[in-house]
Amino acid sequence: MRRRLCKILTTAVILLSATYYIVPILADTPAEEWKAPPRAARKKNPIPADDKSVAAGKVIYSAQCLSCHGPAGHGDGPAAKDLNPKPRNLADPKIQEQTDGSIFWKLTEGRKPMPTFEKLLSEDDRWTVINYVRTLKAREGK
Ligand code: HEC
Repeated sequence: MRRRLCKILTTAVILLSATYYIVPILADTPAEEWKAPPRAARKKNPIPADDKSVAAGKVIYSAQCLSCHGPAGHGDGPAAKDLNPKPRNLADPKIQEQTDGSIFWKLTEGRKPMPTFEKLLSEDDRWTVINYVRTLKAREGK
């Protein structure tokens, strides 16, 4: 009788600890793909990507994005290590292939732990920082 109780208790402990350890692991798996609605993705960037805009975008990037996305956009900023999910590598083709409209929508909406920039940045500043993000594209051979 005692043995049976012991077995039941052991099983319970194993099951409980399994849940305790497995649930956070599952929660850590990459979130589903983040996709902008097609209409938002089609929006055109009204700010020409000239030198002036790229320079202004770099200033905005340094103030608002670098802490998470890192100096070269590789997702390795000083605040990145404690975040889950991790900030994305902005040089990655998966991001560079997106339209400006799609990135604009994501900046506006945010997705935890990335903040929404709707209030933090004006619309023009959001388009401007995208012009700078384009310059982070991974260069071939690098
Ligand atoms: C607090 C940290 C933080 C800041 C600040 C931040 N990001 Fe992010 N960013 C993230 C995280 C985390 C993700 C991944 C979110 C996800 O996939 O759910 C992300 C994802 C992205 C993506 C990729 C979206 C995709 O297609 O998967 C882009 C583009 C981006 N950030 C641009 C920016 C820009 C530009 C700024 C500055 C205006 C910025 N981020 C500021 C943390 C941050």
